[in-house]
Amino acid sequence: MKAAVARTPGGPEVLEYVEVPDAVAGPGDVLVAVAATAANRADLLQRQGHYPPPPGASEIIGLECSGTVAALGEGVTGFQVGDEVCALLSGGGYATLVAVPAGQVMPVPAGVDLITAAALPEVAATVWSNLMMVAGLRAGDNLLVHGGAGGIGTFAIQLGHALGARVLTTAGTPEKLAFCASLGADVTIDYHEQDFVEAVREATDGHGADVVLDNMGASYLAGNVDVLADGGRLVVIGMQGGRKAELDLNALMRKRGAVISTALRGRSTGEKATICAAVVEHVWPLVADGTIRPVIERTVPLAEAATAHALMESGAHTGKIVLTTAPTGDA
Ligand SMILES: NC(=O)c1ccc[n+]([C@@H]2O[C@H](COP(=O)([O-])OP(=O)(O)OC[C@H]3O[C@@H](n4cnc5c(N)ncnc54)[C@H](OP(=O)(O)O)[C@@H]3O)[C@@H](O)[C@H]2O)c1
Repeated sequence: MKAAVARTPGGPEVLEYVEVPDAVAGPGDVLVAVAATAANRADLLQRQGHYPPPPGASEIIGLECSGTVAALGEGVTGFQVGDEVCALLSGGGYATLVAVPAGQVMPVPAGVDLITAAALPEVAATVWSNLMMVAGLRAGDNLLVHGGAGGIGTFAIQLGHALGARVLTTAGTPEKLAFCASLGADVTIDYHEQDFVEAVREATDGHGADVVLDNMGASYLAGNVDVLADGGRLVVIGMQGGRKAELDLNALMRKRGAVISTALRGRSTGEKATICAAVVEHVWPLVADGTIRPVIERTVPLAEAATAHALMESGAHTGKIVLTTAPTGDA
């Protein structure tokens, strides 16, 4: 099979599209002939040598894919060779073949083409698991989504809106803020120009955010605790603003607030299967009926994965960047 690999850690240019040994379906695995994968921030860190794969996972980068079932490992039922699927991976997506535990393989949502489906597993699983299974988002809650124009953010705005939350979001340019509003954000906050704590307080008549989905980590910790409503839940899923900061427990305690941090990749196969089943049950119908639309900035060939990584590092994108195994051009 072919794969985009980083043989030495470094910038986007270290990614090479080379021949590697074929992936093989072990017991309980589905072998997928990959049509497309998508770029994630974890991929950039793995390429730089900062984010080794969890034990047992492929050394090849790539946390999600779409494609066609090529073979079934021992004991797998419920899939046929030739089925069109998408999958949440622990690694291995930047290749033409990947072996995936069957519980992480999902049908393609109705009405979504196979290439576009590659943009969905990671955001759907991350956003559903954190907003619903971790933070217990309820209709009527004020939900603050940081980084609303990113892959996670564009999905979280739409899911939060669909679930009846009032969505407030931060982004870095007027164009991105307008796009977030078009996805259903009720309040948009320019993080370069505005203090998000003040903006959220003002927009919620002093109530604050019942749930915060945060990609920044350390640099936003104090502000995020400050902005929480009584009984609010802060879920930190990213460390783009650093990993270490001081937590004011008095401020948190007075609000009876919670700070929770989660990572999807390191969860067990069983936990990932539970999340994927919930995504298929609750999220895919919203995608199929158009309530949530995949947001894709660009589709590039997997052979040019360096271009996708450079684009993501520039921060110029909105939504997801998809990589297709098709030999040339856009899908
Ligand atoms: N824990 C998990 O399981 C998990 C799973 C998936 C992703 N993640 C994390 O979730 C985060 C988002 O991932 P992604 O795929 O959506 O990446 P992405 O598409 O690159 O989005 C990153 C976003 O960060 C925003 N940003 C940069 N500086 C900011 C600031 N000071 N305040 C608010 N937002 C700011 C950018 O906003 P502008 O473009 O408007 O500047 C951009 O929209 C990453 O940190 C990623 O590692 C975690």
